[in-house]
Amino acid sequence: MNHKRVLRLAVTVAATGALAAGMTMTLTSTASAGTTLKASAAEKGRYFGAAVAGQKLSDSTYVTILNREFNSVVAENDMKWDATEPQQGRFNYTGGDRLVAHAQANGQSVRGHALLWYQQQPGWARDMSGSALRSAMMNHVTQVATHFRGKIHSWDVVNEAFADGNSGARRDSNLQRTGNDWIEAAFYAARAADPGAKLCYNDYNTDGINAKSTGIYNMVRDFKSRGVPIDCVGFQSHLGTSLSSDYQANLQRFADLDVDVQITELDVMSGGNQANIFAGVTRACMNVSRCTGITTWGVRDCDSWRGSDNALLFECSGNKKAAYTSVLNALNAGPAITPSPTTPGPTTPGPTTPPPTTPPPTTPPPGPEGCTASVSLNSWTGGFVASVKVTAGSAGTNGWNVSVTLPGGASVTNTWSATASGSTGTVRFANVNYNGRLAAGQVAEFGFQGTGSGAGMTPTCTAS
Ligand code: G3I
Repeated sequence: MNHKRVLRLAVTVAATGALAAGMTMTLTSTASAGTTLKASAAEKGRYFGAAVAGQKLSDSTYVTILNREFNSVVAENDMKWDATEPQQGRFNYTGGDRLVAHAQANGQSVRGHALLWYQQQPGWARDMSGSALRSAMMNHVTQVATHFRGKIHSWDVVNEAFADGNSGARRDSNLQRTGNDWIEAAFYAARAADPGAKLCYNDYNTDGINAKSTGIYNMVRDFKSRGVPIDCVGFQSHLGTSLSSDYQANLQRFADLDVDVQITELDVMSGGNQANIFAGVTRACMNVSRCTGITTWGVRDCDSWRGSDNALLFECSGNKKAAYTSVLNALNAGPAITPSPTTPGPTTPGPTTPPPTTPPPTTPPPGPEGCTASVSLNSWTGGFVASVKVTAGSAGTNGWNVSVTLPGGASVTNTWSATASGSTGTVRFANVNYNGRLAAGQVAEFGFQGTGSGAGMTPTCTAS
């Protein structure tokens, strides 16, 4: 039976960026009567997700709700740095793979959380700093995003890098102390490793227009203007007893920067206002055409990190709460996304073919001295991302240069973790300050993106 009642109320959202380009984006209000969160969200072109704690996958009440109501999952802890790389260079994907397998068996997409975060670092990383830490960070991003390549809808590439309070500045951390460019370097590395995943910046206390969200907004605007491959911004939305009146306006100003926005960790303090706040967040997402999905940070109250706050949509018994009904109603009442053929795509082109499934190349043995370099390529029609590994020979390096001759018609458009001289023909890449000094056998990685074909490039490495 078709319960759809199409009201045909056209709401025109005049997104600043779209207007500037002479375009409009249209949300068509379509009342519907979905009976689960995932069905109602899907009818409106969105996903509805939950954070999953690995050990709960053996709890049948939990799994029944998870599979009935949610079509997106995110690992509450299993894809974090301490879980995936407990010892340097030794990766453990047990929990992450289990969740991906569950998702694939149940038609759920997967958000990846989180490649770099100042918390939940393994002990060995917490003890590192400077260029050694920077290399370890980038290697972590590359390895983990490569392992899950093709299986992740959106990655939280960087989590919680901005300070609370009125500064609007970056948070101090060992990650930040490796250099202010660590965030963009992480995004470039993630793009190279999994060109099919949307790449997000994710943070909390960004539930309206405030100093912290404005700091992040300025970073995203800067990234977009320079072609740094960011696709989405996650708003965690761990909420108390009220919802900021400019919650939706804040989402919209980010969307106007030409990024998707996602509600990534929603939970709300219990009490009289809980159902209204959940509904308000849902409505805000539905009213922003670039808001592509909502994730609650857990399933039942007793699964939540917030203990006695009873912050989620289901009671421990599995019963639906009033907040559940308010979210469902807001999803059903919300406008559907009408894809606009004229809406610009991401400034950094993604692949038009499925990401390759080939594993990353093995590191070639280092030469007796000097350095060696190898290229691995992700290509699509009209473009490519090249990831380059530089391996120091037996004498180590103080710095390095890698020369690559591009095929005719190809041109370099972006470079990360190196500086490029030239963009066509023979292009020379030099180390940046944090990755030039390598011990014997140590590896540095950099990358570049190009238009045209990158096939057949043979890099030449020289050390200083
Ligand atoms: O698994 C160990 C267990 O073996 C050990 O006995 C026990 C002793 O404390 O710790 C267990 O690990 C805990 C883990 O949750 C699993 O339960 C960690 O101590 C604990 O710190 C961890 O807390 C998680 C927290 O992030 C820190 O990583 C929460 O479950 C998780 O909900 C929370 O999620 C974060 C998001 O990632 C980012 N945004 C904020 C959000 C809430 O803090």
